Amino acid sequence: MGAFGTIFPSSSCTTTIHLLILLVLILIQAPASTLAQLQDEEMAAEAKAADAANRRWAHLPRSDVKLVEFPLNLEYLECEYFLWGSMGKGMDVVAPELVGGGPPPIGAMEANLDNFTRDIIEQFALQEVGHVRAIKSTVKGFPRPQLDLSRSNFAKIMDQAFGQQLEPPFDPYANSINYLISSYVIPYVGLTDYVGANPRLKSPRSKRLVAGLLAVESGQDAIIRALLYQEAEMEVAPYNITVAEFTSRISELRNELGRDGIKDEGIIVNPALGAEGKIEGNVIAGNEYSLAYMRTPQEILRIVCGTGSEREPGGFYPEGASGSIAGSYLR
Ligand SMILES: *[C@@H]1O[C@H](CO)[C@@H](O)[C@H](O)[C@H]1NC(C)=O
Ligand SMILES: *[C@@H]1O[C@H](CO)[C@@H](O)[C@H](O)[C@H]1NC(C)=O
Repeated sequence: MGAFGTIFPSSSCTTTIHLLILLVLILIQAPASTLAQLQDEEMAAEAKAADAANRRWAHLPRSDVKLVEFPLNLEYLECEYFLWGSMGKGMDVVAPELVGGGPPPIGAMEANLDNFTRDIIEQFALQEVGHVRAIKSTVKGFPRPQLDLSRSNFAKIMDQAFGQQLEPPFDPYANSINYLISSYVIPYVGLTDYVGANPRLKSPRSKRLVAGLLAVESGQDAIIRALLYQEAEMEVAPYNITVAEFTSRISELRNELGRDGIKDEGIIVNPALGAEGKIEGNVIAGNEYSLAYMRTPQEILRIVCGTGSEREPGGFYPEGASGSIAGSYLR
């Protein structure tokens, strides 16, 4: 109506309604042949779009295709986790055209979030839908892999991080702080993958895509870290463990599983690891120059599968990750 409002003076509201009725009448009386023609045109347009997409994929160097398709594994994971956590429904409802027939995630559910946190996570969720769409419109990709987003999987990760069984088991869906701690586990891995992929990409098209994904993933990671930093000294009920301690242990676990040194840091660190080696607050993680750390797909697989081995499925990917890079280790 806004568009009509600007074309017609405000006094001619009834004129606008008459025009709309006329339009509806014309559409109702459109002969069947016109509709068939419209459908034909639609199909032709779809075929043309599919053609264009195929040509786009063909133009990316083979190595770029592999590097761009790999993080689709991580984007599906984030997308499902944030959709379910904030809305209680996943891609099968929100973006069924993107799942490619892959199985629904195991154990995903709505989290008990306060309104502010829910609002943010819902934004993250839809951003991830966009990311999956962006990757799949650049490379052919693959269907959603089997994901394990169950409480028990997160509890296992936390037990692994603390080297002991937390009692009661950690529940990521129980409240906002637990959900944010569990989210600390997620976008950062994608971020380090994009930093690692970037120097290996050849085509400007893939570089543009990866830079765009990287910027938003790191924005999400920074928001999660800032929210946790605000509560850094708070004990996470019912454990006698602070929020900061949770982040340090998760980061240490990832460093251990990745098996290639320190590329992950909690929100409070020994000052030697902080910016310029001088500060313990570590709201954003970075190396000695405060540049983001990078990880290879092998390191990512070792971490997200929770096994420390790129050849051994597990963790979030009980049947392994998909695509040609992940697949090459599973053979
Ligand atoms: C949270 O949002 C719901 C739904 O919009 C509203 O009914 C409720 O009052 C809000 N709670 C708080 C604490 O603002
Ligand atoms: C929690 O741990 C701290 C230090 O590790 C200790 O001083 C404190 O007494 C503990 N509190 C409880 C309730 O166990």
